[in-house]
Amino acid sequence: MRAAPREWVAIVDFGAQYAQLIARRVREERVYCEIFPHDAAWENVLEREPSAYILTGGPRSVLEPDAPHLDARILRARKPILGICYGMQELAQACGGTVVPGVVREYGRSELIVDAAQSLLFLDVPGRSQVWMSHGDTVTALPRGFLKLAHTATCPVAACGDPESRRYGVQFHPEVRHTEHGRTILRNFLRKIAGLRELWEMSSFIDRAIEEIRGQVGTGRAICALSGGVDSAVAATLVARAIGDRLTCVFVDHGLLRAGEAHDVVAAFRDVLHLNLVAVDARERFLAALAGVEDPEEKRAIIGREFIAVFEEQAARIPGVEFLVQGTLYPDVIESKTPHSKSGAKIKTHHNVGGLPEHMNLRLVEPLRLLFKDEVRRLGRELGLPARIVNRQPFPGPGLAVRILGAVTPERLEVVRRADAIVREEIERDGVEAPWQYFAILTPLRSVGVMGDFRTYGNLVAVRAVTSDDGMTADWAHLPPALLQRIATRIVNEVPEVNRVVYDVTSKPPATIEWE
Ligand code: XMP
Repeated sequence: MRAAPREWVAIVDFGAQYAQLIARRVREERVYCEIFPHDAAWENVLEREPSAYILTGGPRSVLEPDAPHLDARILRARKPILGICYGMQELAQACGGTVVPGVVREYGRSELIVDAAQSLLFLDVPGRSQVWMSHGDTVTALPRGFLKLAHTATCPVAACGDPESRRYGVQFHPEVRHTEHGRTILRNFLRKIAGLRELWEMSSFIDRAIEEIRGQVGTGRAICALSGGVDSAVAATLVARAIGDRLTCVFVDHGLLRAGEAHDVVAAFRDVLHLNLVAVDARERFLAALAGVEDPEEKRAIIGREFIAVFEEQAARIPGVEFLVQGTLYPDVIESKTPHSKSGAKIKTHHNVGGLPEHMNLRLVEPLRLLFKDEVRRLGRELGLPARIVNRQPFPGPGLAVRILGAVTPERLEVVRRADAIVREEIERDGVEAPWQYFAILTPLRSVGVMGDFRTYGNLVAVRAVTSDDGMTADWAHLPPALLQRIATRIVNEVPEVNRVVYDVTSKPPATIEWE
């Protein structure tokens, strides 16, 4: 029994940069899907009987001698298939069509002209619309049974399909925002062509996940490190539903949290959700270990090491604990599995401070490993978690230590905490759409200022607010000047150590979100 529903889509990844985006779009249509590399062990996947397939794009040409190909067993399964970009060419070729090297390369916005308005794929899509194309090769002869459904000025077959076998191809990317009616086209494939009806809902996921966790843990005991973040919170709540107080949650207060957070976490988990919670006040221990350390990497290493030590001490007090609950999400699972996204995986490793030593010998329970972040939030709401936990912005494991440049001291923690609370309060009160993350950074810079009749020599605080979908790339949030002004005025007035506030207007890349 898996936490996946019966009706689902297998996404065959040919090395696309957009594979995850396709998966997210399919999930947004409330259809369950998973991504597999094109050379996956298909016998295992086929056993789970996918209801339909989507073939992604990819950087190669199907005409290259060692190009990646579609496993023949997928065609033999006779399920609906949608090929996108490379996927369309691969589908066309595999079904007996002809692909030739293109003369004109087309990349970017293009006007799609629908030739077969009656096709289910283009239901509710206007005759002309904007799409995002990327192609070099061209399909010149369609496989038997296939019809040409649309074209662009330079691409004679921009969409094709065979209603009988329910195999379709599009040369453009329906998953990207620049394709005006991309969502409708994907929805048409999923609902009208593949006939998928079962809705991927968090309420039914909960029942299946609980059954699965019970199957895995049996009568055993589990432990979970709560960070206050949404992922570990939702994972713990779900596991507690399955095994009750055989789950012990450990919350380590390392003293590097934002104002009020330690209290909020304990209140939510102990008093509202009634979880079996051990809260460890390790503030002094962390501060002592961090004393005098300025190098950011060294700070991270110390925090990681201390965290593991505290966690191990707590685990040792619970007799017979065999399982460790972790809030691993689907993007991490895909990244660690797919070879072509090495860079993504590498960026992540330094973020995972919570990695536990192997000698603890705990087996992992990862109930969120099939979910995207927005689904985890939906699940959290469904499980009755308080809004301030479900909607919490991402917060680095090493906490405020990476938002204090230079040494971490109790005084400097207090400065950044107070400035940060003002940033949060003002942004949340303003009614602007909440950015992905927003916070204050305490720099080691000091500068001259004047207050009343006095010359001051105070600290420089930077404010950072970014918009992002996944934290991998980000843009600075274009906050209204009046709001920025209120933030600056309040920080300087209410935090006496600070006399100057600057706003960070760099995107990621080239900058990162955190300053460190
Ligand atoms: P950067 O600064 O690399 O951050 O652009 C990208 C995202 O990751 C978060 N971040 C961390 N999260 N442990 C975490 O759990 C960490 O050590 C860590 N460092 C950065 C950051 O807040 C942003 O959302």
